[in-house]
Amino acid sequence: MRIMKPMIIFQKAALALPFLAAALAIYPAAEPLAADANAGAQIVAQGTKSGGVACARCHGFDGMADGSGAFPKLAGQSAEYLESEMHAYVSGNRKNALMQPIAKGLNEAEIKAVAQYYAASHGTSVAPGAQPAEVIVRGQQVAKEGDPGANVLACETCHGPNGQGNPPIPYLASQYRQYTVLQMQMYRQGLRKSDLMAELARNLREQDAVAVAAYYEQVARAASK
Ligand code: HEC
Ligand code: HEC
Repeated sequence: MRIMKPMIIFQKAALALPFLAAALAIYPAAEPLAADANAGAQIVAQGTKSGGVACARCHGFDGMADGSGAFPKLAGQSAEYLESEMHAYVSGNRKNALMQPIAKGLNEAEIKAVAQYYAASHGTSVAPGAQPAEVIVRGQQVAKEGDPGANVLACETCHGPNGQGNPPIPYLASQYRQYTVLQMQMYRQGLRKSDLMAELARNLREQDAVAVAAYYEQVARAASK
């Protein structure tokens, strides 16, 4: 499953390439990039001169992605966190067949520019599909109290009240549940390295990962963030 899904996504992205070429033909070659939000917007919308794919293809121009849950929301994540994840894809501390080549295709200024762009972006969420009430209740309990019996700390200890984020620690509130569940598996299997998340992800029961992901998906992001 985990191998199949990115392949399908990759095919989808490949199908989108003719449209990207058309978009690039409309916008002539850009001036050299500086690390500012405008340069970020340009990469997000059009990709880079050296052939980097436009981030908007998968994450949306506003950083809210397409609602399928295959691509994470990036809007309003701190620039520091977004940058550190791009570096993790480059170093291989975070494995992903789509994002590693994309991150490796950007230089430092370009990474900074896209991170600043998405950090400043505010998207509008589409209401997630309803989940069973008992799942949400359990998810909220794990988020706020953890699972002391399984040696799992409350997520809010680090991710902030209501999962709003505590930069550079990312927000979980409103993030797509499928993405959150997948990341817990990545940490558990060591395909995504983090001293703080690895053991917790191994200790967290699978159904609790599903529950906490469903809970956070329906927690709104605070307007000020
Ligand atoms: C072809 C689709 C695709 C494109 C294009 C794409 N991404 Fe991604 N991105 C993904 C997927 C899938 C993930 C989740 C990967 C994982 O599980 O690690 C992801 C994850 C990320 C993450 C980690 C988010 C988090 O919450 O930890 C960042 C940051 C990111 N992408 C930035 C970018 C930037 C910047 C660009 C453009 C330069 C870009 N992406 C282009 C598919 C894409
Ligand atoms: C001791 C601090 C700590 C606790 C407790 C904690 N986290 Fe994390 N979490 C982190 C840090 C630090 C990161 C960023 C790590 C990285 O860069 O991969 C993170 C990242 C994540 C991510 C990746 C988000 C993204 O956008 O890709 C998910 C999902 C996550 N945590 C879920 C949880 C859940 C669910 C809980 C509670 C069961 C939890 N965390 C408890 C520190 C913590």
